[in-house]
Amino acid sequence: MSDQNKPDKITRREMLFRTGAGGLGLLVGASGFGTISALGKTMSKEEEVNSDDVIPFYGKHQAGITTKQQTYVYLIALDLTTEKLSDIRDLFKEWTIASEKMSKGVLIDSYSDNLYVPPADTGEAAGLSASNLTLTYGFGPTFFEKEGADRFGLASKRPQRLKKLPAFPGDQLEDAWTGGDLCVQVCADDQQVAFHAIRNLIRIGRGIVTLRWMQSGFLRSPKADKKNATPRNLFGFKDGTVNPSTNEDYNDVIWSNGSEASWMKNGSYMVMRRIRMLLEVWDRTHLNEQNKTFGREKVSGAPLGHKDEFDEIDFDKKDEQGKPYIPADSHVKLGRGDGSQKIHRRSYSYSSEMDPTRAQLDAGLLFMSYQKDPFKQFVPIQKRMASSDRMNEYIRHIGSAVFACPGGISEGGYIGDSLF
Ligand code: HEM
Repeated sequence: MSDQNKPDKITRREMLFRTGAGGLGLLVGASGFGTISALGKTMSKEEEVNSDDVIPFYGKHQAGITTKQQTYVYLIALDLTTEKLSDIRDLFKEWTIASEKMSKGVLIDSYSDNLYVPPADTGEAAGLSASNLTLTYGFGPTFFEKEGADRFGLASKRPQRLKKLPAFPGDQLEDAWTGGDLCVQVCADDQQVAFHAIRNLIRIGRGIVTLRWMQSGFLRSPKADKKNATPRNLFGFKDGTVNPSTNEDYNDVIWSNGSEASWMKNGSYMVMRRIRMLLEVWDRTHLNEQNKTFGREKVSGAPLGHKDEFDEIDFDKKDEQGKPYIPADSHVKLGRGDGSQKIHRRSYSYSSEMDPTRAQLDAGLLFMSYQKDPFKQFVPIQKRMASSDRMNEYIRHIGSAVFACPGGISEGGYIGDSLF
């Protein structure tokens, strides 16, 4: 077995942390796992962990998939500029160490006494709690193969179901929001904590990866929503009512059993769609039409003709004129189909301020779903919706990507170790 392909663990030597200074491998101190930097100051202050809002980084599955949705997300896609698998492995090891630290709400490394090197942590999260930070990593189809070339000798490990999504009717995809070799989803209940995490991952990756796109999103905060109700999207509707919620559902819908690729066991496939919402058009649409578009009541979230948000939907229920309450072209009817395809939605609203070409708000849904097989779950649903969803008048799909997010790791392992 060549050295490039040897499975390994993070060694103590590798725990010596490298700053992201252009991949120079500048050693600034021994971070983490009980070691105190010879160069650094004591970590006592930074190591104080507020366990109330810490989501463990290690585990059977990656955090950030079934984790209760935090208030903020940053989602980035990265392209690899290196040709060496060993560079990528090293990068994932460093990201693992940094991710574990940041998830605990501590600095990636203590500041050095040497005033003439850049600090190992950019510092804006110092003193802030972990804020339920999660970091979720994924591999895009182009990680394995690009323009017909097996980039890192791993093409045979690409699962069949990890490939570019087909074109759907009405797609208006822009390169600026599409594709990517790798992705990282960072979520937290504090925006500065989330930004700090994404910024430091990008910094550490300098010289090995470049940023392809970056998207941010938000939901209402738990502070503003004392009832902990289903969050509302920018059309004002409760979004996320019908979603897997038990371990049985998760096994059924989300987690791979590894049959398609052993390295994906306990992992999941993420689909991202950036969907612009034409808010000006929507805001001029009467309430009855808004309700029919979704097949649900705007205020209560109840299916039309039903009482409560969580009522089982009876799609055959008819009004006084004998017409089904829930129109055949409504979003929930098409989302449900015959009930055989299910996905786990974990979307956020986005706002990129203003579209200068139209002098209108540029906002929408950063749609994310997790599933075992995008082609058996997401694709058939999106096919139905793309051809006849009543909502199409009010939205445009402008970005698309798919990533394989491997299972979680245990201490001593590193992200993607099952693949490398
Ligand atoms: C801007 C775009 C979208 C908006 C505003 C939106 C909004 C909603 C809303 C309000 C509901 C009803 C409440 C709920 O169960 O969560 C819903 C349900 C659903 N949506 Fe979407 N959605 C969008 C895009 C998509 C896409 C792209 C897909 C997948 C292809 C999708 C799949 C579903 C599914 C599967 C359901 C549940 C249907 C059921 O009751 O079984 N949605 N969505």
